[in-house]
Amino acid sequence: MTIPSSPTTYLLAPLAGYTDLPFRMACRRFGLVYAHTPLIDAGALVYGNRDNPLILARGPEEPWLATQVLGSQPENLRKAGAMLNVMDFDVIDFNMGCPMKKVVNRAAGAALLNNPELALACVQVLRDVVTKPLTVKMRILDVDDPGPTVAFCQRLHACGVDGIAIHGRIATKIYSGPVAAKIIKAVRDSLPASFPITANGGIFSYDDAERLRLASGCDRLMIARGAIGNPWLFRDLLAGTPSTPIDHAEICEVMHEHISGMVALYGETGAMILGRKTVLSYLCGRGYRRALRAQASTIATKADFDALFAAVEKEGPIGLPGEAVTQD
Ligand SMILES: Cc1cc2nc3c(=O)[nH]c(=O)nc-3n(C[C@H](O)[C@H](O)[C@H](O)COP(=O)(O)O)c2cc1C
Repeated sequence: MTIPSSPTTYLLAPLAGYTDLPFRMACRRFGLVYAHTPLIDAGALVYGNRDNPLILARGPEEPWLATQVLGSQPENLRKAGAMLNVMDFDVIDFNMGCPMKKVVNRAAGAALLNNPELALACVQVLRDVVTKPLTVKMRILDVDDPGPTVAFCQRLHACGVDGIAIHGRIATKIYSGPVAAKIIKAVRDSLPASFPITANGGIFSYDDAERLRLASGCDRLMIARGAIGNPWLFRDLLAGTPSTPIDHAEICEVMHEHISGMVALYGETGAMILGRKTVLSYLCGRGYRRALRAQASTIATKADFDALFAAVEKEGPIGLPGEAVTQD
C-alpha cells in the first residue's frame, strides 16, 4: 500500500523497546495505519539474535508496516537488506538518527551524519540490494543553518532513496529542546514536491501536529513519544480534535489488551519485565495514586499484574488528568 500524499498522513515512528506488535495494535485500534517496528541491528539480524523474531513480529491484520535497520558496516547491511527483503514489510528504513553512545561509538545511527561518505556508501549498498521502497530516518545537522541538512538530503535523494524522515533536533540534544521545523522546511523546499519528506519531533497533540505541519510544509508527520501510553493520540489526530480526557474504563481496557498482547508475544516473564514501563505509561499523568504507579514498577508475574490491574480498575483516578498525585 503506498502512502497517499494528502491529506495529512500520520506515521508511528520506530521506537526501540516500544513499537512492537502489541504497542502498534493499541495504536491501530485508534486509527493508526502507517507504522514502524523498533530498529533492528544489521549485525544482530545477520548473526541470528534470538530477539529478532520478537522485534520483527507482524500481526496478520496490520495494514502497513515498515521496519528499520541500523548499522554502519556495508557488508552486514547488504546481508541484512537481503534478509529483510523476503520478510513481510512494506518499506525498509535506514537509521541515521540514533544518538546513543553504544551506537555512535560503532559509527552507526547519528554518527553517520558526520561521515557522509560512509553514510552514502551504506545507503548505496542498501539501495542496490533492497527490492522494497527504501527510506532514511535522520536528524537535522545544524539548528540554524539549513545548508548542511539540505546538502545531505540532496545526496540521499540522488542515491535513489524513496523518502526521508527528519527529526528536527541535532543528535547532541537527544530528545530535548525545540524542533527546528524551518530546517525541515528548507529540505522540503529543496527537493521535488513528489519526493516524500516526513517531519518528526515534539508531537503530543493535534495542535502540535498542526504547528509542525505548517512550519515544515510537510504533509507527513511522524509521531514518537506522544504515542507512548497514549494510543488515543491517533484518534485525536485523525479527527482533528485537541486532546480529550480518556475515560477510566477505556484506559483499563486498552492497557489490559496491550499487556495481554505482550504476554502472547514474549511469554509471561518477558512481558512482565517489559510491561512495567507500559503499565506506568498508561497510569502516569492520569490522576492514579502514586502507590499504584510504584506497584507497576515491581510486577514480575501475571498474578502481580492481575492484582495491580484489579486495584487500578476498582480505585480509578483520584486526581485530575495531568495533576500531580502524590498521595500514597
Ligand atoms: C525510547 C525511544 C526509542 C527510540 N527508538 C528509535 C528507533 O528505534 N529508531 C529511530 O529511528 N528513532 C528512535 N527514537 C527516536 C524517535 O523515533 C523520534 O525521532 C524522537 O523521539 C523524536 O520525536 P518525538 O519528539 O515526537 O518523540 C527513539 C526515541 C525514544 C524516546
